[in-house]
Parts: sequence; C-alpha cells; structure tokens
Amino acid sequence: MMFSRRTQWSKESNALNRLLEEKLASGAIVLNLTETNPTRCGFRFLKPGLLASLSRPENLKYEPDPHGLMEAQLAVCGYYRSKGIKLRPEQVFITAGSSESYSFIWRLLCDPGDGILAPSPSYPLLDYLAALNDVTLLKYPLSRKDAWRADPDSLGRLFGQKPKGIVLVNPNNPTGSFLCEEEIMAINRHCAEEGTAIISDEVFIDFKWRGSQIFERSLAGNTETLTFTLNGVSKMLGLPQMKLSWIVVSGPPLLVQDAIHRLEVIADTFLSAATPSQRALGAWMARRETIREEIVERLSLNLETLRRAALAGGAFKMLPAEGGWHAVIQVNSAGDDEKLALGLLRNHGVFAHPGYFYDIEEPGSLVLSLLGKADFFKEGVRFLSG
Ligand SMILES: Cc1ncc(COP(=O)(O)O)c(C=O)c1O
Repeated sequence: MMFSRRTQWSKESNALNRLLEEKLASGAIVLNLTETNPTRCGFRFLKPGLLASLSRPENLKYEPDPHGLMEAQLAVCGYYRSKGIKLRPEQVFITAGSSESYSFIWRLLCDPGDGILAPSPSYPLLDYLAALNDVTLLKYPLSRKDAWRADPDSLGRLFGQKPKGIVLVNPNNPTGSFLCEEEIMAINRHCAEEGTAIISDEVFIDFKWRGSQIFERSLAGNTETLTFTLNGVSKMLGLPQMKLSWIVVSGPPLLVQDAIHRLEVIADTFLSAATPSQRALGAWMARRETIREEIVERLSLNLETLRRAALAGGAFKMLPAEGGWHAVIQVNSAGDDEKLALGLLRNHGVFAHPGYFYDIEEPGSLVLSLLGKADFFKEGVRFLSG
C-alpha cells in the first residue's frame, strides 16, 4: 500500500451531501442553515478598511521567530489584559489557525497512540486532527440535564487511563455550553494528580448570548496545571481568511518554561503565520468590540426567531445553551435525525445538519447555524415549525 493507514478515509459522501449536490446542480434554491463562514453572512464589519493595515512597509521584511512577531504577541497580551489576565509575550505563540495550534500541542505532548480526552458531542474536526497526529481521542461525554456538563464519573474513569491532555471547548461547539467553576476545579485537580495538560479551546468565548448569566472564564491565566489556551481571529474577529491564531502557555513555572522551549522548536520548523496578518493584528483588535457587537446582534436576532417558532408551533424545542454560533434543536416528532435532515432538504430546500454529525445522541436533533442573515434564517425556520 503506497499510502499511510491514517489517510484511508472513506471516499463515499453521505446521503445528505449527495442530495445537497443534486439540488444545487439542478439550480434549486437552498436555504442553508449551516453557514458558519462569517465572510458569507453579509456583515457590515467586512469593509476594505480592514485591508489597509495589511499593506505596511515593514511587511517587506522577513523576521522569522517561532513565537511570531513581538507586535502580534503584544496584541494578544493586550486582549487578555482586557480580561484581567497578565501575560508575558513569551507565553504566546502565533500560529496560522487553531488546527495548527492543536497539532503543535499534540506533537508536544504525545507519542504515537497516546490518549487525549475530548468532549462528546463536539465538532468533528478534532477526530481528523487526532488521526493526523497519531493521537487516540478518549471521548468524555457531556450529559445534558439543565446544561451540558462533563459527567464526573466518566471523567474520573478516563483520567485513570493517564491521558496526556484534556481538550476543553469553552463554550463547546455546537452545544453552546460554557464550563462551570466546579468543572474547572475538578479538571484541574485530576490534571495535577495524573500529570495531564489542559488544552482550552476558547474560540467562541466572546460570544455569550445576551441574557446568559454564566461567567465565562478564560484559562489563559490558569496556573494550577500546564495549560494551553487557544484562540484566533477566525471567530473572535470573524476573519477566518486571515489565518491567524495563537496558543498561550500557562501553568507551574518550570513546566511552562520546558513547554515553551519545546514549542519553540516545533513552531520554528513551520513558521507558518504570515507577516502581514501578524502586523495587522493590533489594528484589527482595535475593532474587536464593534465586530463582536455585530455578530452577537445577529445571533440574538436569529435566536429570537428560533425561540418564537419553538413556542408558537410547538414542533421543536431548543436544547439548553448559553453561547456560540450554533443552536441545537430537538424536533418533537423525534425519529432519525438524518431522515429529518434529508426530508427538510428534499421537501423544503432547507439544509440543516443532523445532530449525529457532532455525536449528539438525542433523537430528532438538528444543528443550526445562527450566523446567517436574519431574514434568510427566518425563512428557513418557518419549515421547522411543521
Ligand atoms: C471549537 C472550534 N475550535 C477551533 C476551530 C477551528 O478554528 P480555526 O479557524 O482558527 O482553525 C473550530 C472551527 O469551527 C471550532 O469550532
């Protein structure tokens, strides 16, 4: 066999995607309720002015550094300072995307086959990243009562397998659940006992829904256990095309020092973040609040549409959530979620993701993006009400 086993992916596309392709090829109008690409959602903040900061004369110079450019590191430190977290620039590594951040950290922590705990449900990219990095994902279930929470018994059992790291997605995608203080305390305790590192994926942390009472806590200041905090401009500033993310290393000083030295070698091998994006980060960050406000406004409008439809028609309910770009709904007639999604697309031209794409086990669950234009979203949601 010429190719590696890890790339032996199925070539079969799933029934929903096949139907979508057929519909689009026939010229049918599809109401896409899965759109999470902010550059396709008609946001006002996407103006040419954003590009001005990409054409600075300093960009003609190449100054490779495994941490990224100091200017970008300082912009990241400024972001955390606004949350009351003080960082030294050397704690920051600039990368070309969260996927790359995950890869660097897993390469740092794991030998082939080592285990990393990851939440379930969550977004499917983690499975691919784990396979590509020869890491075994050990899924810890989030059980849904009033909110999606890590089940303490399962966590305890899985920590017994001495995982090298635990991924926290805060808030989780697509369940929209933030970690509560008790969960953070319990995880810190387990990690300290087992020598496990925390990987805190916080790409949606600034998108708490209006009215939510939860206190969102970035772990970039966590000192109890070795912690890698991930974020970037793709969600925070709605600029995925700019390919700029970062890792913050925190924890007990000696471990942090060792981790930084090793990460420097990994990052130096790739040096993938582009100079213009790095030098523009400060200027883009200055627009952060304006961008966040516009996105949160969109999320609120679409949530309101969804809540009204859930109450009025009674055909579905919304599962509990507090933030992020997705909503998970459960259709009351329940049944197989794939059949539901296929029926919506076939009969009404509405494209929604079945919950099983994200390992959601609730029957009749659909995952909807809240990022699309409000009138468009309303049009699609009409068909969910039966
Ligand atoms: C929770 C979460 N983390 C990370 C990513 C990837 O982010 P990036 O665009 O920075 O690679 C995604 C993508 O949807 C995500 O949902």
